[in-house]
Amino acid sequence: MNTAKVDVLLGLQWGDEGKGKVVDVLTPQYDVIARFQGGPNAGHTLEFEGEKYVLRSIPSGIFQGGKVNIIGNGVVLAPDLFMQEVKELEKSGHNLKDRLKISTKAHLIMPTHRLIDAAQEAKKGKNKVGTTGKGIGPTYTDKISRTGLRVGDILDNFKEKYEAHKAAHLDQLKALNYTDFDITEIEKTWLEGIEFMKNFQFVEGEYAVNNYLKEGKSVLCEGAQGTMLDVDFGSYPFVTSSNTICSGACSGLGIGPNKIGDVFGIMKAYCTRVGSGPFPTELFDEEGKKIRDLGHEYGAVTGRERRCGWIDLVALKYAIMINGVTKLIMMKSDVLDTFATIKACVAYNINGKITTELPYDLAKDVEPVYKEIKGWQTDLTQCTSEEQLPQAFLDYITFLEKELETPISIISVGPDRAQTITRKQ
Ligand code: GDP
Ligand code: IMO
Ligand code: MG
Repeated sequence: MNTAKVDVLLGLQWGDEGKGKVVDVLTPQYDVIARFQGGPNAGHTLEFEGEKYVLRSIPSGIFQGGKVNIIGNGVVLAPDLFMQEVKELEKSGHNLKDRLKISTKAHLIMPTHRLIDAAQEAKKGKNKVGTTGKGIGPTYTDKISRTGLRVGDILDNFKEKYEAHKAAHLDQLKALNYTDFDITEIEKTWLEGIEFMKNFQFVEGEYAVNNYLKEGKSVLCEGAQGTMLDVDFGSYPFVTSSNTICSGACSGLGIGPNKIGDVFGIMKAYCTRVGSGPFPTELFDEEGKKIRDLGHEYGAVTGRERRCGWIDLVALKYAIMINGVTKLIMMKSDVLDTFATIKACVAYNINGKITTELPYDLAKDVEPVYKEIKGWQTDLTQCTSEEQLPQAFLDYITFLEKELETPISIISVGPDRAQTITRKQ
């Protein structure tokens, strides 16, 4: 019997749940780690042995020796940023050339995509999405419009194709009245990035992944962003432009749904969001500030301040349903160590009507209904096993598992790889 399997790990909130850290922790259990969507809008942080790394397009499995890492067809890749990321890793002694494979069907983010991203945001004014400015939306738009440029194009008459795509983008920028720019330098680095990419193995990713499975190897798919940023099910239009949910792993790698085993859903013990858009449990007071300070809630790449609030169980239940989550992973529990009382949103009050379902428009009249929970007021950062966790914290875990009807299998109590507790099931 073929026991090979694919597990998927993804964010259940608005991103930055701690995916990078946990993928790194779980990597020893897998042969292959694969990214299936998103691009350099992601910032995945890993900390171990006193070092800190932030990955953007490269899977978080590269630090545990001997594993294959794949950038799947569902990813959008910026050659210049990719080159920068690889060079920084090489500087710190991590050579990726033999371990990283890139799907020929992944789409390329061009310098003009970033300009279109900026132009569209400027045009939206106060209704802007607050994108990361990496050209994500325009690149996926070209993909869906069947006008994209792909990694496979690099190997065949590339310059001509590039110029044709660029000309079309310049027309778009003119129509958006966005003409005050000079991309000469950026374009030069970008084209260097294209040459640099040729040092890596381009593969038909779908064959690569399925052949590994046939050989009995196991695959961990690493999500980027989070379910509430999914283009179909997130807080539209304040979302990213890809399917961040579990099905994205099938379409972003070429894997059949029947191959998927566990779906790990990651959440923080509270909730954060960067950029614009609704966030029902957002805190605007001292408690929100305290979470931001203690959790160092600033963007891993952009440094943008993250908005902070209480955990939202209505949104989490929705995310668990959409993704078919089998196991939960709770991050940053330690950030709440000093709180006397913790709140969890158990329902929404929408114009006097109590509901536990996500409304069509999350921005409209949604008042969270909170349950107050006694804080554990104990330093969790030194705990290394379940037995050491204080009872009040274990009670909180039991409460969450009951509400979310899903077991919490891993608890993270600090940013370091070592600060991770795997629970006995
Ligand atoms: P990702 O995008 O989901 O990979 O998450 P980010 O790296 O953007 O943000 C998570 C941040 O929280 C990073 O700075 C991590 O180092 C940090 N972090 C992860 N787990 C924990 C934890 O359990 N406790 C604390 N205090 N920090 C954590
Ligand atoms: P990781 O993988 C948090 C947000 C942006 C913006 C919206 C659209 O680190 O969790 P985009 O540039 O994708 O068009 O921006 O999505 N966003 C993220 N927020 N974590 C991320 O990635 C994000 N990637 C995009 O802030 O609101
Ligand atoms: Mg992040």
